[in-house]
Amino acid sequence: MRPAKRLRLRFSSLQLLLLLLWAAPRPCAAGDEEDDDDDAGLPGHKDRHWSYKDMPEWASMFPNCDGHMQSPININTAAVSFSVKLEPLLLSGYDLPPEETLPLKNNGHTVLLGLPKKMTLSGGGFPQPYQAAQLHLHWGSGHTWPGSEHTVDGHRYAGEIHVVHYSSRFESFEEAASEPGGLAVLAAFLQVGMETNEPYQHILKHLSGIKEEGEETAVAGFDVAKLLPYDFDRYFRYNGSLTTPPCYQTVNWTVFNQTVRLSQEQISMLEETLQGDDDEPIQSNFRLLQDLYGRSILSSFHTLEKVHPPGGGPSEEGGDQAEPKAGGVLSSPLPDGAPRDGLDPTSGKDAEKRVGISLHTGDILAILFGSLFAATALAFLFFVHKHRRQASREQATKPAALYTLASTDEHAL
Ligand SMILES: *[C@@H]1O[C@H](CO)[C@@H](O)[C@H](O)[C@H]1NC(C)=O
Ligand SMILES: *[C@@H]1O[C@H](CO)[C@@H](O)[C@H](O)[C@H]1NC(C)=O
Ligand SMILES: *[C@@H]1O[C@H](CO)[C@@H](O)[C@H](O)[C@H]1NC(C)=O
Ligand SMILES: [Zn+2]
Repeated sequence: MRPAKRLRLRFSSLQLLLLLLWAAPRPCAAGDEEDDDDDAGLPGHKDRHWSYKDMPEWASMFPNCDGHMQSPININTAAVSFSVKLEPLLLSGYDLPPEETLPLKNNGHTVLLGLPKKMTLSGGGFPQPYQAAQLHLHWGSGHTWPGSEHTVDGHRYAGEIHVVHYSSRFESFEEAASEPGGLAVLAAFLQVGMETNEPYQHILKHLSGIKEEGEETAVAGFDVAKLLPYDFDRYFRYNGSLTTPPCYQTVNWTVFNQTVRLSQEQISMLEETLQGDDDEPIQSNFRLLQDLYGRSILSSFHTLEKVHPPGGGPSEEGGDQAEPKAGGVLSSPLPDGAPRDGLDPTSGKDAEKRVGISLHTGDILAILFGSLFAATALAFLFFVHKHRRQASREQATKPAALYTLASTDEHAL
């Protein structure tokens, strides 16, 4: 009895709480919480009480949080190493029928969607497949306070999705969570875009129904892969940890290079709907960056920086270049994304040079056309202004409506 109970207490405040409670044969979390007070001396007694406000204290209750393989990290794209072993990721069983409902819960730290283990992750250089357990999101608190956990070249994105899997070598998530190589998490950045991301509505439309901590609802099955970028070929890989207590250093991280776009309304819904402890809104639920301590980061693709000599261009170039692909991405049918430049190690360098050159030419053209446009616009404004003054002098006696019309047009300029 004891060991089983201790195990449950240890996990009881993870983001993964819900999952474990379902998986456990015994019912009723409330009963356990009462027992909790009797077991004041047990490790993990205070598990439920961690918060993003006391990150510096996590390690005092969860020693792993002080380890040297912690997450999240900044990904310095100039320092990653290309690896041929990192083949495209393969997701199967992700397209769930609507009859199969999934539990969606506000666990006080995030919104968490429970996933069936028939959803699997393979390829990607993994020696054996991983099975899905849950997905959840991290976000910020408004325009100027983005909330992704990882950063790329120091850039923090609006939010981040984590799809958590555990190795099929283990019977259950809880068994795998503390074992080396036990977990694999797919991470993708959320960015503000122009259009509503329909797949994300499967989750977002339910948030108002689970405002309070602990509330749960059922969501009809949908194609969960549509929450991810469509480019499964380009990603970063490193060894890290859970980003919440108990910070187990058992996560094989995959961070997509392509981002996912949500409308500003959708990002705001995420930032403003859920409440955690003390009815405070759940905001900025991301952990601060952790030291690499000499770990290496691999990439499945050649990063542009490798080709440019130092100082050969701002690192944003690569990012900008990737953005248009991310544009109306999610409306396009899933994966099989055409092979990308740079994936083939032999032709890679040349391909990148071409990209580099075309970006350069693009910049010059942009400046040329920009100047041309500005000059034309100025000339036109000047013409309108002159004409207006002349007209108003000549037509002072005509009805005012004419003038109003003209001024509305001018506003539209
Ligand atoms: C993570 O996956 C890679 C394959 O890319 C594998 O070689 C490595 O051993 C895994 N890491 C751990 C800690 O299991
Ligand atoms: C992660 O750890 C495993 C096992 O220690 C190792 O084989 C692998 O190379 C590491 N992966 C990276 C990206 O450093
Ligand atoms: C994608 O990779 C390029 C380097 O090739 C980098 O400049 C860009 O910031 C990366 N974006 C993300 C989201 O990883
Ligand atoms: Zn997470």
